[in-house]
Amino acid sequence: MTSQRKRTVILISGRGSNMAALIDAAADPAFPAEIVGVISDKADAAGLGIAASRGIATKVVTRADHASKDAHDAAIHSALATFGAEIVALAGYMRLLTAGFVEKWQGRMINIHPALLPSFKGLDTHQRALDAGIRVHGCTVHFVTAAMDDGPIIAQAAVPVLIDDDEPTLSARVLKAEHRLYPLALRLFAEGKVRMEGNRTAFSGFADTVGQDEIAAPNPAREEIDLEQLARITP
Ligand code: GRF
Repeated sequence: MTSQRKRTVILISGRGSNMAALIDAAADPAFPAEIVGVISDKADAAGLGIAASRGIATKVVTRADHASKDAHDAAIHSALATFGAEIVALAGYMRLLTAGFVEKWQGRMINIHPALLPSFKGLDTHQRALDAGIRVHGCTVHFVTAAMDDGPIIAQAAVPVLIDDDEPTLSARVLKAEHRLYPLALRLFAEGKVRMEGNRTAFSGFADTVGQDEIAAPNPAREEIDLEQLARITP
């Protein structure tokens, strides 16, 4: 089993709470991905200490140490190769990757975004969601393509936007969903149940709605109950 686990490297820039959720999930030897390293583009990323305390190898590759964006991405690519990465998981990596780098890892690189894509690509998703007055918000795990926050969607989780929410309360609710969703999505990817095919995600090994709660929450098998719940909190 151990030898079949997919060697996964996480790229971070900061706090690293999603990284920690992935590391914790992969601490189970039955999890199909093994976290073999964490790379940060920021030397002071808090996530580096968390990874080290969990016994995960870390490497800092800063933009300032490289002459160009291409050279920076090339250094990250070679760090990934040194780790023997089979999967790259972006978790709060705050730098746009070059098209050349993305092409090398396309179909093997995933990201978590704090909104229900294709809505609210980019930054400040929670404040923009509040400003737009939407009643349902959430997070998305998707394959990374050259266009920002645009690759094929693997899994999404929705949370309600409550009437008196502000940015801190809404982002905390979404973050909690992120910490559940990302390990589920990585597991599905590592065990071969999802793969990127052109500009779509192909799914296999899902019998019917049973099991699909892994890729969409609220669970589609309980859609009526969940919609009733949502209706109760949505004015
Ligand atoms: C998360 O909200 C993630 O969705 C976004 O950046 C944030 C990173 O937070 N891409 P953390 O570093 O995982 O705590």
